[in-house]
Amino acid sequence: MDTLKKITEIACIGGGVIGASWASYFAAKGIAVNLQDISNKFLEQAKTEIDKNLKFFVDINVLQKSELDTIAGLVHYTTDLREAVENVQLIQESIVEDYGIKQQLIKEIDTYNQTALLCSSTSGLLMTKIAEHSEFASRCITAHPFNPPHLIPLVELVKGKKTSKETVDLAYDFYKSIGKEPVRINKEIPGHLANRLQVALWRETIDLVMNGVCSLEDVDTACQYGPGLRWGIMGPNMILNLGGGEGGIARLIEHLGPAIESWWADEADWKKFPEGSTEVLVEGCKKAMHGKDIQEMEKVRDQRLIGLLKILGKM
Ligand SMILES: NC(=O)c1ccc[n+]([C@@H]2O[C@H](COP(=O)([O-])OP(=O)(O)OC[C@H]3O[C@@H](n4cnc5c(N)ncnc54)[C@H](O)[C@@H]3O)[C@@H](O)[C@H]2O)c1
Repeated sequence: MDTLKKITEIACIGGGVIGASWASYFAAKGIAVNLQDISNKFLEQAKTEIDKNLKFFVDINVLQKSELDTIAGLVHYTTDLREAVENVQLIQESIVEDYGIKQQLIKEIDTYNQTALLCSSTSGLLMTKIAEHSEFASRCITAHPFNPPHLIPLVELVKGKKTSKETVDLAYDFYKSIGKEPVRINKEIPGHLANRLQVALWRETIDLVMNGVCSLEDVDTACQYGPGLRWGIMGPNMILNLGGGEGGIARLIEHLGPAIESWWADEADWKKFPEGSTEVLVEGCKKAMHGKDIQEMEKVRDQRLIGLLKILGKM
């Protein structure tokens, strides 16, 4: 915890969708942030996003209006990588999803700062390869958020082959200390954990719609008001553990196992998007939005999310 207390300045490298959202969250937690991007144009876009996110925090009473200017002032914008990283204790890298570009960035960071925790937001690249050319790979770790990181608590921590145990522990304690829900992933695998789960379910929904079993809106409604509602409060294994009554998950498998195996046998297992699926999904989503646009739907999502986060004690 001694080292943790020293995390008072963070560099967010890349100020796009994820970097700007991370910077908003860190600043809202009272941490000074140096946000670096490759041009002033991107920095301006990031500032607009961060100001919007902080105002949203005021609207939902997470921040006081009176502290808004102070919190916004915690974010320092720069195109200079050295200035951004040289004095910080944690670097949150959120640049484009490309091995070559991330490797080059890490090499450059190594010349300016050799001790900070180096955390990558990568959605699915392997840290072993990202840190391949770094002399300081033991301090590098994947810390994958779920979009938007200023609202969703999950952070997936994945170590590379050279990541030290101390780095994993420090990262875990840090994200936990600022209200995140970190999970440790012991093996590097494409897509980490949550994205794999998300796309497994998504494939089945696409298949059901493509096969005319139901509309896209109905499969989404079934998920939202059935299993999705439960998953928002407990994970799928614990929920099924309760489904077995006093006998728990063993009783559930004994009772429903053969039926479940017949469903698995019948479920989709294709590896490529079926021809025509994009068109079906676009059309289905358009219908299910009932005239609302993406920004209006995002507002609905975020308002509902806030309610759930409050129940979970995460807001
Ligand atoms: N979008 C998501 O839903 C999501 C979710 C979780 C994680 N991620 C991961 O976060 C990372 C960023 O994704 P994004 O969606 O924010 O992308 P984005 O395109 O919105 O933003 C990337 C930003 O990085 C900047 N950039 C590019 N090269 C740079 C460099 N060398 N130095 C500094 N800045 C640089 C770009 O100018 C841009 O502003 C990726 O690794 C992605 O896999 C994305």
